[in-house]
Amino acid sequence: MRHDPHSYADLTQARTVHLDLELDVRMDARVLEGRGTLTFAEPASGPVDLDTRGLEILEVRDATGPVGFTLHPADPVLGSRLTLQLERATPTVTLTWRTSPDASALMWLDPAQTAGTRPFLLSQCQAIHARSIAPLQDTPAARIRYDARLRVPDGLTAVMSAAPGVARDGWLAFAMPQPIPPYLLAFAVGDLASRDLGPRTRVWAEPATLEAAAWEFADAESMLETAESLFGPYAWDRYDFVVLPPSFPLGGMENPRMTFLTPTLLAGDRSLVGVLAHELAHSWTGNLVTNATNEDFWLNEGWTVWAERRIVEVLYGEEEARQQCVLGRLGLEAVMEARTRGGRRTALVYDQAGLDPDAEFSRVPYEKGFLLVTALERAVGRPRFDAFVADYIATFRFRSISTATFLDFVRERLPDAGVDLDAWTTEDGLPADAPTFRSERLEALERIAREGGDLTEARTTTEKLWVLARLPSSVDAREAAGQLGIDALSNAELRASWLALAVRTGARGLEDQLRGFLDTVGRTKLLEPVYAAMVARDDLLPLARELYAANAPRLHGSTRLKLKALGL
Ligand code: BES
Ligand code: ZN
Repeated sequence: MRHDPHSYADLTQARTVHLDLELDVRMDARVLEGRGTLTFAEPASGPVDLDTRGLEILEVRDATGPVGFTLHPADPVLGSRLTLQLERATPTVTLTWRTSPDASALMWLDPAQTAGTRPFLLSQCQAIHARSIAPLQDTPAARIRYDARLRVPDGLTAVMSAAPGVARDGWLAFAMPQPIPPYLLAFAVGDLASRDLGPRTRVWAEPATLEAAAWEFADAESMLETAESLFGPYAWDRYDFVVLPPSFPLGGMENPRMTFLTPTLLAGDRSLVGVLAHELAHSWTGNLVTNATNEDFWLNEGWTVWAERRIVEVLYGEEEARQQCVLGRLGLEAVMEARTRGGRRTALVYDQAGLDPDAEFSRVPYEKGFLLVTALERAVGRPRFDAFVADYIATFRFRSISTATFLDFVRERLPDAGVDLDAWTTEDGLPADAPTFRSERLEALERIAREGGDLTEARTTTEKLWVLARLPSSVDAREAAGQLGIDALSNAELRASWLALAVRTGARGLEDQLRGFLDTVGRTKLLEPVYAAMVARDDLLPLARELYAANAPRLHGSTRLKLKALGL
């Protein structure tokens, strides 16, 4: 019986609890030679279904000899089911395989796509790409511990979502002693250096970006302490992170003990460290308690946006946190409107059978999920809600839960909350009583933006993003850029938002700026609005197509999927 529409794993069969993984990184061939031993919760017999994508399975054996297996034809979303046939009670099986050069989790970067002179490899497994690296029960419901050894080319080093690596006989050995969902398996290989920021925090980056990265994230240790004061002791020992080359498709990815970050966060003024707060918050809401399937993804991200904003409130003040809520709600309404127009769901939970999680990804589970958590918080008041959060995390730590499990828990612990949980989770749109947020500063800035007033009033990145979102379409985008102080040196969020506005409002002569931006950035969230605006303009569509074609090879598959959906 399959419980997850995105995995062939059948949890009534044997359950994998540990992976011993060996990966030989062949940079030139762009393949990993893999060998892995799966340990089952108890000795297993009969069929065991695993997930794979593009793997060439070379051998499967147990302690006594070969194990029979069938590799089924590939499904376009799920990949290929690999069925092992265990003849007798078997505690472990060892598989040998080779990955495909276009493995969906892996990005093989040329030196020109890095800040240095060596090639680079990184992985991005969420939601269902781990199966392109190793044969696994690739559902978050099947948490595993792992040990891993990586062999990397001379002069390169590797980091992993694990305790720091130890060199041993030409291999780097890593251990993740806590059970994680497979989507949190991660590594990066390249010319990497590190600097300690505090007793439990260390930043990794290419040597050319290390200094800037250490400066930008200098507050990581105090952010960790703040998060602990809000959500309880940090469960993962160290909190290290790595700043990757620009092709990395995300702002950040919460790989345990080694958050992955985009270099577009290196704004030079610490204005984008909120992304680090978000990934750190996942150490509680997500990595400790995560979704059982991608259909429950909102449980992971909605809670994390809520936790992120609690950290922001402590570190940067109530007004900044409130402004981020206002901006988040504005973005949610725009996305919901666009999805509704396109005939797509805006419920927190809906049937995703046959759908690709990468294609379903949107801000809805983030911002609508945040609103549901906030509705509960407001219903019972903060002191009671904080106790509920501690209870929630303690009850479900190291588990992967469904929305139904969460809702039962709310009904039991907060029986008087009076929030219509079924409407929130199963209906499209927003409940009429969804939480709203007000910032008088943003309201004043909106009036200024609408009336052509003095935009220099907008001081912070959040305020500038708000103004860019509220300027009328009659605005002179270059004039606005001058007043907001946005130029080629501004942070990537502001540049993306301004470029999209400039294109939308019909500005001319943008070609060089668009090229400069689209040739360097790889983060989906920043590329999407700029390309979308270009696609809507006949005179810029050819340039959009040209730049997309030139850059597609260095982008992650999930980014290509999203950009192609715009008509590129
Ligand atoms: N876990 C997500 C990224 C993700 C989600 C990757 C789904 C693949 C599938 C990560 O925590 C995230 O949400 N990143 C955001 C950060 C933002 C909300 C502060 C991003 O990259 O923009
Ligand atoms: Zn997240």
